[in-house]
Formats: sequence, C-alpha cells, structure tokens
Amino acid sequence: MFLKNCWYVAAWSHEVECEKIFARKLLNEDVILYRRQDGTPAAMVNRCPHRLAPLSLGRIEDDCVRCMYHGLLFNSDGDCVEVPQQDRIPPNLTVKTFPLVERDKLIWIWMGDPALADESSVPDAHWLDSPDWAYAPGYIKYDNANFMLIVDNLLDFSHLGYVHETTIGGKGNSGLIKPKVERFDWGVRITRQYTDDDIPPFIRGIAKFEGKTDRWQIYDWHVAGNILSMDSGNAPAGTGAFDGEASPLTLRFHSYQALTPESETSTHYFWAQTHDFEIDNPQMSQAIADQVRNAFGEDREIIEAQQVVLKNFPDAKMNPIGADAALNQVRWLLNKKLEAERSLTQESSNG
Ligand code: FES
Ligand SMILES: [Fe+2]
Repeated sequence: MFLKNCWYVAAWSHEVECEKIFARKLLNEDVILYRRQDGTPAAMVNRCPHRLAPLSLGRIEDDCVRCMYHGLLFNSDGDCVEVPQQDRIPPNLTVKTFPLVERDKLIWIWMGDPALADESSVPDAHWLDSPDWAYAPGYIKYDNANFMLIVDNLLDFSHLGYVHETTIGGKGNSGLIKPKVERFDWGVRITRQYTDDDIPPFIRGIAKFEGKTDRWQIYDWHVAGNILSMDSGNAPAGTGAFDGEASPLTLRFHSYQALTPESETSTHYFWAQTHDFEIDNPQMSQAIADQVRNAFGEDREIIEAQQVVLKNFPDAKMNPIGADAALNQVRWLLNKKLEAERSLTQESSNG
C-alpha cells in the first residue's frame, strides 16, 4: 500500500526539540523522535519491548531513552543497555530504529529496508534553507483522507478556479488552462502558463502592480516520498515573463510540499510557500503562509468530503476526464514502484 524504500518527511526540524520526546505515527507505525546530546535526531518504534509501554512516556537520558514503566534503558541504536536489578540483558530486548537525515530544516525518515537507505537520494529541498528565500513553515493534518486523494488534488490544478475561487485560484483562466505534462522515472513535471489573466485574490494585497498578470506554475511531482516542488510566479502582463524576462515587479515563489501517510485514512501534510521578495519581512512570510493555509483548508474540505463518499459507496466508479492525465500517470508510476518493491521483498525472503 505504501512505498517503503524511500525518504519521507517525518517532521520539521523545529518540531523535534532537545530533551523532549516527539511522537508521530508514520506509515502505520508509531515512532518517536528525539535529539542526541550532539543535536542529531534519532528515531525508533514507540513500544518498549518489555511490556510494550509507549516509549513516548519515557525520558531522555544522555543519548538514550528510558522507559518509565520498569526503567529499561535503550540507546539510539535501539539496544537495551540497562535492565534495573539485572546484570544480564536478554538479546531480544531491542527497539527497531529508523535511518534519519536532517537537511533543509526537515527530518527525513526511511521506513523501508535500512540497508537500502541512501543519503544521496534525499529529495532536494534547498529552498527551505537558503538565504535567498523566506517562508513560514506549514503543517496540516488530514484526519480523514488517504494520501492519494491529496496527491490527485495536487496533480490537477483545474480545481483552482472552483475550490480556490476567492483565494489562490481566482475566477480567471485556472479551470481552462491545459497543462503540459511530462513523465519521468521519478514522477511528472507539470507546466501551466496563464497569459493575461486576472491577478489571483491572494496576490492582490502583495503585488506592486495592477491590471492583468502573466502567471505560471511549473512543478515536479516526485512519486517517492510524495513531494511537490513548484516554481510559480506572477508578472505584470506582457513583460516577457514566459520569454525569460524578469520584470522587477515579478513575484516569485517556490512551493515545497510533502505528504507522509499516517495511516490508510490519514495524512501528514508539510508545506512551505517560499518567496524571493521581501525576504527580511517575517510579516510578509506569515501573511503568505496564512493565505496558503486558508486555501489548503478549502482543499481539505472537499477532499475529506470525497473520502466520506468513497467510504459509503466503495463500489461507485470514477470516470476519467482529460484533466486527470497527470494523476493517472502518477498512479501508474506508483504502482510500478510498489510492484518493484514487492518483488525485491519476495526475492530477499526467498533467498
Ligand atoms: S514496559 Fe518498558 S520497562 Fe517495562
Ligand atoms: Fe488546491
């Protein structure tokens, strides 16, 4: 059901504080994250192997976690290093741990075969830790949606003019633009250009120009880890934005979004709308994030309502339209990757 052999965002860096245990369910597994004394993060299953008490109720001691039921102590490799009143430590008293990489203000976790965890395949998110871009970090929890419904939503921006009519979409051309969709091994690239469009409502309070805009969204969807990485912007219409010209009035954004399934019916949504203008103005970053959060609330409303229908009518059939092209491609790629992962697991269990 979930691709396991890839990096997922487990948390924003700031969520995992020193000397505190942070618990989060990821891909149906209860996990704790904490920081060692040198600040590096560690992750392990949130169950003590003694009597299965949650380690999230435990306490950090140096680089270790002590279960606060009967006091067993575990190091960050998951090995039990102390059993009170007992010299011998039974070898099966271990906690499963997960490879982590902290990069670009995110903590990435590998939930699959640890032998395959390759740091060089951590997705590029450098916009989130760059002096050229500013943002206020965002997180939304979907309590009632399978991650694929959110993936579908992000791959089809024809919903912008309807779901987001008064926020990030606007009444303009959103629903009419036919995107260019290119498929790669890793996912799809989607290009949408809106010539001479109305300024979308969320830009109106920010833009230093009036009248029409040339507007674009060019984004990569990475199937592994469910990552959206999007360059978007608004320039005064007719100033050559699509021919490589950059009017000084152009507003440019890079949106970074990551979906990490919590379970089959709930999803963690990490996002950041980075901007390259007024980067020293935190109020601007916050105002942009607030606008985006509102818009994502609109998505959540329709997607969670859709999930209810799917639950109540599991046999009802969906019918494709042209705008589903990208999401069909991504579902095809995901199935291919899931199939490859299944064969790999079978091979290793056979031999
Ligand atoms: S359940 Fe953790 S020490 Fe007993
Ligand atoms: Fe949306």
